[in-house]
Amino acid sequence: MYLRKKIIAANWKMNLTSSEVAPYLETFLLETKHIEGVDVVLIPSFTSIPKASELLEKNPKVRLGAQNFSFHEKGAFTGEVSAGMLRDLFVRYVLVGHSERRELFGETDHIVHQKLLTAHRHEIRPILCVGETLEERKNGKAKQVLEHQLKVALADLSHEDLADTIIAYEPIWAIGTGCTATAAEASEMHHFIREVIKELAHKEISQKIRIQYGGSVTPANARELLKSPDIDGALVGGASLDPRAFAEIVKASQG
Ligand code: 13P
Repeated sequence: MYLRKKIIAANWKMNLTSSEVAPYLETFLLETKHIEGVDVVLIPSFTSIPKASELLEKNPKVRLGAQNFSFHEKGAFTGEVSAGMLRDLFVRYVLVGHSERRELFGETDHIVHQKLLTAHRHEIRPILCVGETLEERKNGKAKQVLEHQLKVALADLSHEDLADTIIAYEPIWAIGTGCTATAAEASEMHHFIREVIKELAHKEISQKIRIQYGGSVTPANARELLKSPDIDGALVGGASLDPRAFAEIVKASQG
């Protein structure tokens, strides 16, 4: 079996200002100072990235991510932020296709696909978010929805870029609802995602690729979820706003 390093990410969404970054990191870094062997990614808002970048410059234990970016290289795109601009601030990861962007900002599968290609071109690791609605799950369509999202988003990626993409399975019914998927439900979907990756590439890549779970992850349920062999990490929203709670989740990845 392939040994995959766990990856725990904090998606702050539209929360925490730049001046809240330093106190957050002070507490979080203190709480996690003995933790090794896990990738930790902090994904603040654009305006908090410069401060986080400055404070994490000499800290190899926490990497920086962004919540969004444009697939255009540069030019007349008022209000947009390019991959090159993120690289300039040492951003190593970017969320692509989060359900909030798909649902609230009209991000289509085609846009998601363009963003994945752009992120890899700039050597920023994309975290591709996929997940079904409650209705789709109730209608027995969850796997069909995931398969479609994955196949459109990941089309034309080289095997190398595919292996370097992180998938986040985030069932929409579990996001911000307190209604988390059980470890068994999440594992079944992660296993299915690996099957789709195998079809798109081959077995070795499907074993290499890391799949996070996201949706109401808290210190109380993280250990149970993260001990499942198919769950390689967590993408945490609400609970990541509290540095102690996020530190607990990172610790839970250690088993
Ligand atoms: P919650 O952890 O608040 O449910 O959010 C999950 C999420 O959307 C992370 O990207």
